[in-house]
Amino acid sequence: MFAIETQKLTKRFGSFTAVNQIDLKVQEGELFGLLGPNGAGKTTTLSMLATMLSVSKGKAFVNGLDVSQEPDAVRKSIGIVFQDPSLDFDLTAKENLEFHAKLYGLPASLRSKRILEVLKLVELEDRAKDLVKTFSGGMKRRLEIARGLLHHPTVLFLDEPTLGLDPQTRRRLWKHIQKLNKKENIAMILTTHYMEEADFLCDRIAIIDGGNIIALDSPTNLKKQLKGETILVQSNNNTQLAQLKLSGIFTVKALKDAVQFSVKDSNHLLPQLFQSASKQNIQIESVSIHQPSLEDVFVHLTGHSIREEVASAGEQVKAKMKYQGYVRR
Ligand SMILES: Nc1ncnc2c1ncn2[C@@H]1O[C@H](COP(=O)(O)OP(=O)(O)OP(=O)(O)O)[C@@H](O)[C@H]1O
Ligand SMILES: [Mg+2]
Repeated sequence: MFAIETQKLTKRFGSFTAVNQIDLKVQEGELFGLLGPNGAGKTTTLSMLATMLSVSKGKAFVNGLDVSQEPDAVRKSIGIVFQDPSLDFDLTAKENLEFHAKLYGLPASLRSKRILEVLKLVELEDRAKDLVKTFSGGMKRRLEIARGLLHHPTVLFLDEPTLGLDPQTRRRLWKHIQKLNKKENIAMILTTHYMEEADFLCDRIAIIDGGNIIALDSPTNLKKQLKGETILVQSNNNTQLAQLKLSGIFTVKALKDAVQFSVKDSNHLLPQLFQSASKQNIQIESVSIHQPSLEDVFVHLTGHSIREEVASAGEQVKAKMKYQGYVRR
């Protein structure tokens, strides 16, 4: 049995299709990621799976249970960590968990033991009696994860678990998520628009854009689509630059304000590139070289960047560099 299975799962809001016929199969115990930019349809997908939003078309099963037919049974078998914080800040950590445990009908005799157990899992047992409003962002997130685990769900949904946290706290939370995934043997479906997060954490990733799944594989296999190295070049004529005849190139993609080359060896390509560009009077303004990342895969598949703060691919180019001065990162 799959932890999650969807068949052409679709959500429409009026005439707008937020999630378009997606097919997913998530294994028991798998750590699965939905990766996509703002508005891609990640929360909407999760909300349908968690029975919080009705399905417009298609089917979804959680632990073999149809979300539309057996919503109560589905709810009992899942835990959710919402995108927006949902703790009561004026209660202590323990009180927040007690409230939730009652809500889920956890027998009184088991409550205290399980609360301590989940607090230990996220290393908050020393803070059990402190008010949540005194917690840091990372601690609040860990408490929400603990709460999601209280009733021994077999599937845990994490909607943007590290959104708004600083990079160091984010990394620490990744370790917690990984540990819980193994220790509690629980399938986890997380949404994120952080590439490194999906890359580091997930066994497999579905890249979602505009409500459609555009790729689904392990991070390693997704990156293998772009072999060798990735070079981003900005020039005064990117259209012409993308059409240069050069050897040793796997793929070329003209982006809004840069050209993305996927190449076997940048040392071999760059002299050719500069020579041919010069002959055609194309002025190269900047070059950056790196190993293919999930960001590159996303750009390659969609023609645009995933990060909201990155308005254009050209901004990925770290500095304006002359040929001899290009840097690797
Ligand atoms: N209740 C609603 N009514 C109308 N449109 C909605 C509703 N909920 C979501 N949408 C639209 O559906 C699309 C997908 O939204 P969703 O919240 O699933 O995106 P997301 O991938 O989770 O984005 P983010 O990374 O910003 O959280 C968006 O265009 C959004 O405006
Ligand atoms: Mg969302």
